[in-house]
Formats: sequence, structure tokens, C-alpha cells
Amino acid sequence: MNNKYEQIFQSFAFPSGVEVKNRIMIAPMTTYSSQDNGELSEQELAYYKERSGGVGAFITACAYVSLDGKGFPGQFSVDDDIFIPRLNKLAKTIQSNGTKAILQIYHGGRQSPPTLLPDQQPVSASAIAADREGAPVPREMTEVEIQNTIKAFGEATRRAIEAGFDGVELHGANTYLLQQFFSPHSNRREDQWGGSLEKRMQFPLAVVNSVKKAVAEHAKTPFIVGYRISPEEGTNPGITLEDTLQFVDKLADQALDYLHVSVMHFWNGSFREKNESQSRIIKVYEKVGSRVPILGVGSLHSPEEVVEALETGVPLIALGREMLMEPKWIEKVEAGQEDQIRTTLSKKDQKELVIPDPLWDRLINVKGWLPVED
Ligand SMILES: Cc1cc2nc3c(=O)[nH]c(=O)nc-3n(C[C@H](O)[C@H](O)[C@H](O)COP(=O)(O)O)c2cc1C
Repeated sequence: MNNKYEQIFQSFAFPSGVEVKNRIMIAPMTTYSSQDNGELSEQELAYYKERSGGVGAFITACAYVSLDGKGFPGQFSVDDDIFIPRLNKLAKTIQSNGTKAILQIYHGGRQSPPTLLPDQQPVSASAIAADREGAPVPREMTEVEIQNTIKAFGEATRRAIEAGFDGVELHGANTYLLQQFFSPHSNRREDQWGGSLEKRMQFPLAVVNSVKKAVAEHAKTPFIVGYRISPEEGTNPGITLEDTLQFVDKLADQALDYLHVSVMHFWNGSFREKNESQSRIIKVYEKVGSRVPILGVGSLHSPEEVVEALETGVPLIALGREMLMEPKWIEKVEAGQEDQIRTTLSKKDQKELVIPDPLWDRLINVKGWLPVED
């Protein structure tokens, strides 16, 4: 290995005590490849196996915690104990050579396609449709539904523990339910769950509390709890960077293992405040200081780029699309073969890259996700 990449291979201990062997985590990526009943498929297990063993941790695709929050066709479920044996297979597949397995837990809220839902009716903080053509109007959640959803995240965490995962990541980003409660666009409530910035934090914080309680009750060994945020929204009203800095200040006091800042480019500044050019990840990092480790992500491909990001002091880096194109990224850097790391997707390589058919179809056909070559 080239010495200049040493930083990538330093081990890291999370506050809970779980240790990872290096600083690279695989970012959560939906595969659209589970069975219709929410059970993981063989193709998916093969996809996870191909990318495990080298990286420190693998954050799985998001799994729905209750059926009213299913967000994608072919999404897998953690909403019932019947899924535990198969989830255990996933955890073991990832862990076979020392990679830690983190299950991303999720509720889609108003982003759930009605056709995937039992009563075709998405729910959210308020009855406000997302800001896109044809978006359905969700039904405002009742107090009972809110309490049940908070419990569902706790139950999903218990199942993750029983299935042998090393941790969970709460999907509080990318416009899904946890973010919808924090957002002034989707949350217009006037009860204890909305009305002020402070109150809009209450649902995500209650979910964190429920998850932490499940860990305290059920985990016999240290267990990671991470939280993923999106730092801002483009809508008006919408989450501003200033709102987020107040929210992460609260999250930093919840004894989390990491805070994952979901952006498409590690170095990009605010898209709302054009004069704020400092990386949003660095802004969050500076706000929380040493209270919670930051996981950075976004358009990083080469080991040089990863080292440059680590040099900011952000201790952990997630790679998403790069790990689709190059499952053996860590192994190649370790072996001094960084010149052989793939940074484009060749249409000929599906089999070699072990990418399930439904994900492959999207990668090839959705413009702009990845650089695709014939
Ligand atoms: C195919 C695909 C599926 C994704 N699914 C998820 C997901 O399930 N949960 C999530 O939080 N982010 C998801 N993302 C976002 C990634 O985790 C990541 O933040 C994004 O791709 C930027 O990182 P990258 O430039 O390293 O790919 C997905 C991205 C892609 C390309």
C-alpha cells in the first residue's frame, strides 16, 4: 500500500465501543431487489457478499419499519419477527471477514408510492404533498399513529439486534418521514410535534429515544446507533442550514455513535445560501465538535479524494456509487493497485460486479446516476 493512504486504514472505535478496521463505510443503497413480501432475495445477498470483508462497515439499503412506510418496489422489511432469520443471513454475509453490518431503518411517509401501501394512502406529519408533479397528498398522522411509528422504530432495532447486526442507522434524510417531521414544508402541525423549530425536532428525537431504549433493553454487546440527516431542502418553506445546525446540536447530545450527513458532494456549500461556500459536512462537523463522530459522503472516488476528506478531521467516509462500480475498492488500495480502481460502469460488467437485475436496470437507464460506458 502507498503510505499516503495510511489514514484510510486506521481503525476507529465508535462511542458505544464497536470498533471498525478502517475508515470506509459503504453508503446505504436501495437495490429494489427484495421479494414482494419484504424478504431479502438471493441476488441481494450475493451483492452484499461481493462488497463485504474489506470495508470497515456496510450500511444496508433502507428497510421499512412498518408497511405504511414502504417506499420502493423491492424494498425489504424489518416490520415483523418473521424476517429475522433472513436478516440474520444478511448480517452474517456482511460480517464474514470482519466488516460491521449496520441496518438502515426507514419510514417513507409522504414519499411512499400509494400503490405499495395496504390502503393506498401515504401518511405524514401534515396533509401537504411533496413539491413535485403528481405527488399524492398524504393524510396527517394521528397521535396513535405517531406513537405506533415511534414504537415501530424501537421494534425494528430489537429485530436488528436479534438478527445479529452490529448497529442501525436511522434514516432521517433524503425527504423521508423523520425529515418530514423536521421540515417546515411537510410539518404544519400545531400540537407537541410541530409549530416551532424545537417542536419539529420532537418526533425524530422520540424515535432516537425509542431506538436507544431498545438497545439498552436487548443488546448484550455494544451496538452502533447512527443517524442520517439531509442538511437542507430546496423548497420554501424548507429546512435551512441554520435549522440543521440547531438540530445537530441537539442530536449531538443523544449519545449517538455517528451522524451521517447526506449530500451528493462532500465539498459543496449550501444550495439555499449561495454565499455559504463552506462544505455543509464541515459546518456540521464544526458545530458538533467531538460530541459525535461525523460520517461524510458524496462523490468521492479515489483514495486521494478520501484522504483529502479525512484530513479535514471528519473521521469516517462512506462511499456509495463508487462501491457499485468497484466492489474491491479497499482491497485494491491495500494492494497498491489503486490505478485499477474502476470509476465508470461498463454495460458488460453486471455479472462481474454482482449487481441485482432491478438495480442494474436503473443504473443503466436513469441518467446522471453513474458514468455508464458501452
Ligand atoms: C442506487 C442508489 C440507492 C440509494 N439508496 C439509498 C438508501 O436506501 N438510503 C439512503 O440513505 N441513501 C441512499 N442513496 C444515497 C447514497 O447513500 C449516497 O448518499 C449518495 O449516492 C451519494 O454518495 P456517493 O456519491 O458516494 O454515491 C442511494 C443512492 C443510490 C445511487
